Amino acid sequence: MDKIIVHGGKKLTGEVTVSGSKNAALPILIASLLTAEPCRYQRVPNLADIHTTLKLLGGLGVKIDKQGWARGTSELTLQAEAVSKLEASYDLVKTMRASFLVLGPLTARFGQARVSTPGGCAIGARPVNLHLKGLEAMGARIEHSHGYIEATAVRLHGAKIYLDLPSVGATENLMMAATLAEGTTFIENAAKEPEIEDLASALNKMGGRVRGAGTDIVQIDGVDSLHGFSHEIIPDRIEAGSFVIASAITGGDVWIKGARAEHLDAFLIKLQEAGVVLSCDPGGIRVQRNGKIKSVDVTTLPYPGFATDLQAQMMVLMSVADGVSVITETIFENRFMHALELDRMGAQIQLEGNRAVVRGARELSGAPVMATDLRASISLILAGLVASGSTEVSRVYHLDRGYEYIEEKLSSLGAQIERVRA
Ligand code: EPZ
Repeated sequence: MDKIIVHGGKKLTGEVTVSGSKNAALPILIASLLTAEPCRYQRVPNLADIHTTLKLLGGLGVKIDKQGWARGTSELTLQAEAVSKLEASYDLVKTMRASFLVLGPLTARFGQARVSTPGGCAIGARPVNLHLKGLEAMGARIEHSHGYIEATAVRLHGAKIYLDLPSVGATENLMMAATLAEGTTFIENAAKEPEIEDLASALNKMGGRVRGAGTDIVQIDGVDSLHGFSHEIIPDRIEAGSFVIASAITGGDVWIKGARAEHLDAFLIKLQEAGVVLSCDPGGIRVQRNGKIKSVDVTTLPYPGFATDLQAQMMVLMSVADGVSVITETIFENRFMHALELDRMGAQIQLEGNRAVVRGARELSGAPVMATDLRASISLILAGLVASGSTEVSRVYHLDRGYEYIEEKLSSLGAQIERVRA
């Protein structure tokens, strides 16, 4: 397994470009199942999770032209003209739970699907009850068999669905399913993340009729069929936020090209409270620091609240802030594993259930640490950037799921970082 070694103490300066959003690309690639026509994609990031999704879709019979894309020279094209299989295997779904998003599109277009339940992962139980409740409301027959969900429907029909939680995945699965249902579907208490709006934008380019994406109530008027489309994926707000922390924590001056401040409101407001100097314009975000970082309290919430995917990164910044910060995680039940590794680097973090009390330390010291999940892995690298000495991060396959060319990007900003291939 590869390791990444970071030698701390370098201020990051210069310009870095944000890649396409992993969490927007995954559902929009899966939406290609809804039509037999070619779907063309720009700015899909070259990530492990994307390769997993392409493997999953290829296994279902989707034709994929990824030559130019992998080399970064052209767009990615998918065409689900002859879907030969309606099953997503446990091996793939357990690797990446977003694979579960094929359930809605397969049921909607082909009237049946057999998809493994994702099971849990490092950060929590990750149930899918809201996905299933919505599909049943639209007339699907759902059976649980040997760890798989089997869904059947002659044709889905419109329904009024209330989500007990504004689940991103459930909103995406049900939006896609509803585009081909007979009649109108309302998804109430829908997730409002920018990735939901990007999916709706792609579905409408396909001839879908989705309104209200980004608000609490999404209305989908079903149509008989959808056609191909061309779509540029939005920038990755979580990668952008991670680079904001990288500049702030090293006391640098970085221009994050392509970052959209409007996708990071709550996060950026918290950073300004912490004393980070931000200059935002339509082209990106400039991040500088003016004196000490001040401790601030953070509570993760569904969008537009503070993103849970930026909690670990914020914890690192608070680990070297001047004061005490209380970080409360309300989305996932086990998303503090990075704290245990940061403690080994001299951070002073006390865990109390879903709260972490972070006492700013004078400095962090480099150490061998282990990545446990995607966002924990980037937080350990961020800590290494500011720690004295060297930090060796193991199990970086977690990192490769969601950060495109991360060593190259950080090196270009002046970080002393290298990957040791195992
Ligand atoms: C998406 O996961 C993201 N993944 C996650 O990013 C992100 O952390 C999460 O949304 C929250 O913003 C992708 O988009 C691929 P949820 P998802 O359904 O859809 C509970 C990353 O690091 N829930 O909004 O799985 C669930 O247990 C990843 O890029 C149910 O109870 O998140 C959780 O507590 C990590 N029943 C909460 O809702 C359900 O049927 C939020 O989950 C579904 C979810």
